[in-house]
This record gives sequence, C-alpha cells and structure tokens, in this order.
Amino acid sequence: ELASRMKVKASEVIAKLMSLGVMATMNQAVDVDTAMLIATDFGYEVEQGITEEIGIQMFEEAEEGGEMQPRSPVVTVMGHVDHGKTSILDAIRKTDVAVGEAGGITQHIGAYHVRSSAGDVTFVDTPGHAAFTEMRSRGAQITDLVILVVAADDGVMDQTREAINHAQAAGVPILVAVNKIDKPNADIDRVKRELSDLNLAPEDWGGQTVYCETSAKKNIGIDNLMESIQLVAEMLELKADPTRKAKGRVVEAQLDKGRGAVATVLVQEGTLNRGDHFVVGQFSGKVRAMLDDKGRPIKKAGPSIPVEVQGLSGVPSAGDEFLVVTDEKMAKSVSSARALKAREMELGATSKISLDKLFEKM
Ligand code: GTP
Ligand code: MG
Repeated sequence: ELASRMKVKASEVIAKLMSLGVMATMNQAVDVDTAMLIATDFGYEVEQGITEEIGIQMFEEAEEGGEMQPRSPVVTVMGHVDHGKTSILDAIRKTDVAVGEAGGITQHIGAYHVRSSAGDVTFVDTPGHAAFTEMRSRGAQITDLVILVVAADDGVMDQTREAINHAQAAGVPILVAVNKIDKPNADIDRVKRELSDLNLAPEDWGGQTVYCETSAKKNIGIDNLMESIQLVAEMLELKADPTRKAKGRVVEAQLDKGRGAVATVLVQEGTLNRGDHFVVGQFSGKVRAMLDDKGRPIKKAGPSIPVEVQGLSGVPSAGDEFLVVTDEKMAKSVSSARALKAREMELGATSKISLDKLFEKM
C-alpha cells in the first residue's frame, strides 16, 4: 500500500526497509515513523492525514494520537536593508512578559517565542531572503506569516519586492508594517500606493492586506502590530497535535566547544522530550539537554516552540528535518543510511561508483 501510494515497486520499499534493518514482508504493517522515514527517502512528505490512509496499523496510531490543538504562529520579518527589521523585533522582545521572569535575554538563538498580552508568537530570525528561499527549496516551510517592513521615508525598494516575491511564491500571507512613521519625511500613503501596485492593497483602500504603522525607535504601534499578527494568525486556524512524537526543522546549528553539536530546532508537530531519540538530516542523537530561547533548561517543548537541542552526532544544516523515532537503533540506522546515500550521490556526480564499490573502499 505504501509502495503503491508512492508509485514505486513494493520490492524497492522492502529493500529500503532492509537497509534500515527492518525485515518486512509485502503485507506487513509498519509503524508511522518507519513509513515516514521510508517516504522521506523516496522524496515524499507524509502528512498526518495521508498517513491515516496508508495502512491499518498506521491509521490506528494516527487516530490514537489525533488530538489537534491550536498552536502559535511562526512569523518571519522581511524587508529592505535598514528599514527596521531588527529594531521592530527588538521592540517586540521588550514586550515579552517571559523575559522579565528569566531575568533578561541571556542568549541568542535563531528563533524565539514571545508571550504577549495579545497572544504568543514565535519569530524566526532569518539572516536574509536567500536563507528563506534556500529553506523553502528544501521543503522546509516553517513560516506561517511574513511581516513585511517598509520604511515610510524610503518606500518600496528592491529587497521589498524580493521579499514579496518570496512570500507569495511560498503562499505565505503578508502583513505590512510601515515603519519609521516618526520621521518628518514619512509618507505612509506613498507606501500604500506602491504596495497596492504589487497586489498588497490595504484593507481601508478596499484591499485585503493588513497594515500596521510603527515606529520601532519611538515604540509606537508595536502592541497593535502584535494584535494584528494574532488576528491574521487566527484566520489561518493553525493547529498541531502535541501528543505525537516530535517533528520539526533545524533553524540553525553549530559546533559548540563545550557542548558539542547543538541545533536550534523549531518543533512543528508533537512534543519533544528530554531523552528522545531522533534523526536529523544525516545525523542522529538523543536529546541530552534542551534550552529554551532564554537559555533556561526545559524538559519538553510542544508545537511552534523553538529549542536548542544538545546531543547530536554531527552538525546538521538549516532546514533539515528533525524527527523523533522509537529507539536508538532506528535513529542510527536511518541516519547512517542517509549519510551513505548522500555520499553515494556525491560520488555519483563525478564517477559512476556503485554502492558495493563504496563499501569495498571503506
Ligand atoms: P538590516 O538588518 O541591515 O537589513 O537592517 P534592519 O532592517 O534590521 O534595520 P535596523 O533595525 O537595523 O534599523 C536601521 C536603522 O534605522 C537604525 O539606525 C535604526 O535605529 C533606524 N530605525 C529603525 N526603526 C526606526 C524608526 O521607527 N524610526 C526611526 N527614526 N529610525 C528607525
Ligand atoms: Mg537587521
């Protein structure tokens, strides 16, 4: 059933299962994790809904854990250079009620979760538009909503258009923040006009796009921006199942002198627990420790929560999928199979070397 859904031969799926150390026959049911990993290797993304249809056992598992609950929006801030992206994020972080509790922002990770009176929002700090596109090209759609920052004194510029193109190509809704309204030469109507020409007409002009007027510098309109994010997010009806095994994406990763390979992971489905075994890109590991975005140790993290995970066997790439699996054996066999495949493809690009030859060399 799984093979036919992926339009491949059953023998290929069985061979793949064997390469992962799972001895399976044609009519054997495989668990959701295994099916997901196999599907990923064949270039398929398995959604919970599709998973339900794949097999009886999988259907049951999906049903058992099928508890969709609202989750906070994941937001990316984009816009032209110097239009105030960082300043807006800084102003928003000052409103975070959790910061006071933690005694200030102790560290920077590539994503952070802000608790505000309007509601919770997770911000992903993408270093640039290229990173957004790179992530998307690898199937890592992590953003629910883009905040497009346009300086009122400067108007629509090259990277504003670029950001719009990226967001629209990804099908992500755009909320406009017209920033620097405190400037004497600010011209909000001009920004609205220019953006209307790019299919982003404001609501008060009969369009569909939500606009917020802000001054990050003078702290004007920031609360309203947070409320507007919630309003737009509500329409998206964002949900996730916190009861299943965690699945997420790597936002950034690096080698830390003291702690080894660490990755900032945005949990998208399920709940990630300390002690969980996982596969991440070509690597595997066990969650040895987890820190939240304020540097506090935590034991679990649910959907839309970014965490820094320690206990990886290597440094993955931004955009890599992070998947919790049943045990260490599964984690190791899948990651090594993936690493081997990656090497095979790398070698295959220069010379036609078979997998057997690769083993001989090793
Ligand atoms: P890049 O990351 O370099 O693309 O810039 P950015 O979009 O993050 O802009 P940033 O927040 O660094 O702000 C650029 C400059 O604009 C800084 O000097 C800010 O102080 C200033 N600035 C940001 N927001 C405002 C605002 O609302 N009003 C005024 N007057 N200045 C602002
Ligand atoms: Mg910046």
